[in-house]
Amino acid sequence: MKTSSRPMTILLLCSMLLISFSSKASSLSVEDNFVQCLYNHSKPSHPISEAIYLANNTSFRSVLQSYVRNLRYMTSLTPKPLVIVAAKDESHVQRTVLCAKSVGLEIRIRSGGHDYEGVSYVSHKPFIVLDMFNLRSIDIDIANETAWVQSGATLGEIYYGIANKSKYHAFPAGVCPTLGAGGHFTGGGYGNLMRKFGLSVDNIVDAKIVDAKGRILDRESMGEDLFWAIRGGGASSFGVILSWKINLVKIPDIVTVFKVKRTLEQGATDIVLQWQQVADKLHEDLFVRLVVKPVNGSEAGGDDKTIEASFVGMFLGQSGLLLNLTKQNFPKLGLEPKDCIEISWVESLLFWAEFPNGTAPEALLDRNPNRKIFFKYKSDYVKEIIPRDGLEAIWKAVIEGGEVVMQWNPYGGKMSEISETETPFPHRKGNIFKIQYLLNWMEDGIEATNHHLNFSRELHEAMTPYVSKNPREAFLNYRDFDIGTSSVGKYDEGRVYGMKYFKGNFDRLVKVKTVADPDNFFRNEQSIPTHP
Ligand SMILES: Cc1cc2nc3c(=O)[nH]c(=O)nc-3n(C[C@H](O)[C@H](O)[C@H](O)COP(=O)(O)OP(=O)(O)OC[C@H]3O[C@@H](n4cnc5c(N)ncnc54)[C@H](O)[C@@H]3O)c2cc1C
Ligand SMILES: *[C@@H]1O[C@H](CO)[C@@H](O)[C@H](O)[C@H]1NC(C)=O
Ligand SMILES: *[C@@H]1O[C@H](CO)[C@@H](O)[C@H](O)[C@H]1NC(C)=O
Ligand SMILES: *[C@@H]1O[C@H](CO)[C@@H](O)[C@H](O)[C@H]1NC(C)=O
Ligand SMILES: *[C@@H]1O[C@H](CO)[C@@H](O)[C@H](O)[C@H]1NC(C)=O
Ligand SMILES: *[C@@H]1O[C@H](CO)[C@@H](O)[C@H](O)[C@H]1NC(C)=O
Ligand SMILES: *[C@@H]1O[C@H](CO)[C@@H](O)[C@H](O)[C@H]1NC(C)=O
Ligand SMILES: *[C@@H]1O[C@H](CO)[C@@H](O)[C@H](O)[C@H]1NC(C)=O
Ligand SMILES: *[C@@H]1O[C@H](CO)[C@@H](O)[C@H](O)[C@H]1NC(C)=O
Ligand SMILES: *[C@@H]1O[C@H](CO)[C@@H](O)[C@H](O)[C@H]1NC(C)=O
Repeated sequence: MKTSSRPMTILLLCSMLLISFSSKASSLSVEDNFVQCLYNHSKPSHPISEAIYLANNTSFRSVLQSYVRNLRYMTSLTPKPLVIVAAKDESHVQRTVLCAKSVGLEIRIRSGGHDYEGVSYVSHKPFIVLDMFNLRSIDIDIANETAWVQSGATLGEIYYGIANKSKYHAFPAGVCPTLGAGGHFTGGGYGNLMRKFGLSVDNIVDAKIVDAKGRILDRESMGEDLFWAIRGGGASSFGVILSWKINLVKIPDIVTVFKVKRTLEQGATDIVLQWQQVADKLHEDLFVRLVVKPVNGSEAGGDDKTIEASFVGMFLGQSGLLLNLTKQNFPKLGLEPKDCIEISWVESLLFWAEFPNGTAPEALLDRNPNRKIFFKYKSDYVKEIIPRDGLEAIWKAVIEGGEVVMQWNPYGGKMSEISETETPFPHRKGNIFKIQYLLNWMEDGIEATNHHLNFSRELHEAMTPYVSKNPREAFLNYRDFDIGTSSVGKYDEGRVYGMKYFKGNFDRLVKVKTVADPDNFFRNEQSIPTHP
């Protein structure tokens, strides 16, 4: 049996090759069919031809790479899309959905391209990219304190647009100005206004979406279930967001920022202990992020590695009140008048994004940051204060690792007032802070990648005693394939990462998905599965 099965297999393989060869010779390729379908139904008033980038187009590479932020997903081995459609009109989005569906191509939707695992522009199945960067209009209505923003708009463009119209308005979202409204908001969206106003999704009041049937729906026509799901559940499981209607929030014309740095020798551990006790209970106008990283000590030679803890603050008011608040509630910080910088909200955005002092606000409009890096980031939630010996063990691991940066972001305030089921984002009351672990590197190659992935996993493992359990929670916007993936939309696999990102909301997301996209057209490695 064994000897005779071999020629059979070869024969079978050969005939399969013949079949696929002859079918290729006699008909168009799948991408030709896709493009043909786009042209066939193109509206004469909005020709789709200028939105289509075929793989042989001289601009294909640069268009693909413009919105790649993680170099790990920009190597020669990274699978490339067959076609990019950079939609210039809402009708192009509708056509792209319908045509990809009809020819059987997977679709990846990209707004700002910051996805940590490249989900918006990489797939291991034949796929096309629907790029939203041309759809980026921003329409701000200060009188009604609302705005409509298209998904290709960046946070920097939205922030600049608001500040250009009012000194007293803002929008709560991330600190990095190049994030796209499409991906960022649909994953929750948090920033330094979170303790006062909640997440971006807590301030979204309407949306326009293209569903799996190619229809354009708004809040009223999509219904409250789907509108709930796209505010934190990741819209790429449900459709394509065209635009969001956001509620602007009121802020004072002067805010105060600060950055206080302390090494272990300067008492950082004591300050971190007190930070954990107060960070989520401070007045909601005050947000104090903690950034922990290994640094060389001040001694000559620099071999005495230590930890530097930076306390980066945002206060919605002037420094006098801030100093009183910290003196009373967070005395170990030792905040002094010389640490406090009173500026406008738009200037505070530049401070938080670490632009050099004196940078003009127009820098927020730059869509192409000059720094691209290889990276692996992960997240955790902390519900109990980490005791001193725990902190000391963590410092040791960070120093030994040599290059990890940790961001500890305090919760509490408005975050605790919103129920876990209000939006798919479940990490509300009971969380003291969220950790982000950041590993950045510049060397190309499998060795550097494996080294960094390995360290990030080991550190995550070592943190187990101090963080949330059953499930070990994770933040969708900090996408991490290590917590589970599903290549074919299997429910059991989806439940593994789904419970970590959404907790009990996962079941409702599955119900909404099953109604909105029963064929599971909108899918990726971590999408919401349909009901089994
Ligand atoms: C440097 C940096 C700083 C960050 N800072 C913060 C922060 O302060 N706060 C925070 O909350 N997060 C932050 N993030 C995480 C960020 O919010 C997520 O990566 C987010 O998904 C980025 O959105 P995007 O549109 O830029 O990304 P993309 O890669 O374009 O999209 C991300 C995901 O959303 C989907 N998607 C994109 N557009 C659409 C659309 N129009 N319709 C349907 N689905 C869509 C994609 O398919 C993909 O699954 C940061 C990320 C980076 C790299
Ligand atoms: C496009 O239209 C032509 C002519 O009507 C038709 O023959 C062809 O099958 C269509 N192709 C697709 C992919 O829809
Ligand atoms: C590449 O595609 C763009 C967008 O469709 C188009 O404007 C351009 O003419 C194409 N270039 C070439 C060389 O085909
Ligand atoms: C690119 O490929 C398409 C067919 O897929 C062909 O029609 C077109 O002429 C090619 N363009 C260039 C610039 O080679
Ligand atoms: C505010 O919104 C209402 C209702 O949508 C609208 O009628 C009104 O014109 C808006 N006000 C302004 C100043 O645009
Ligand atoms: C800022 O506002 C002014 C007047 O309201 C407008 O002329 C200008 O174009 C705006 N700038 C930007 C970059 O939008
Ligand atoms: C820290 O010290 C090491 C040598 O121990 C050196 O290679 C590295 O460049 C130093 N880093 C900084 C930021 O000074
Ligand atoms: C800060 O506290 C001091 C002393 O209690 C008080 O005199 C001062 O008015 C307070 N400042 C502000 C801005 O609240
Ligand atoms: C920028 O520098 C000026 C002058 O040194 C200083 O007054 C101001 O507070 C600084 N602003 C920031 C945001 O660091
Ligand atoms: C990291 O690498 C070491 C040495 O190769 C190995 O023993 C360890 O299991 C790896 N850890 C993880 C989490 O992969």
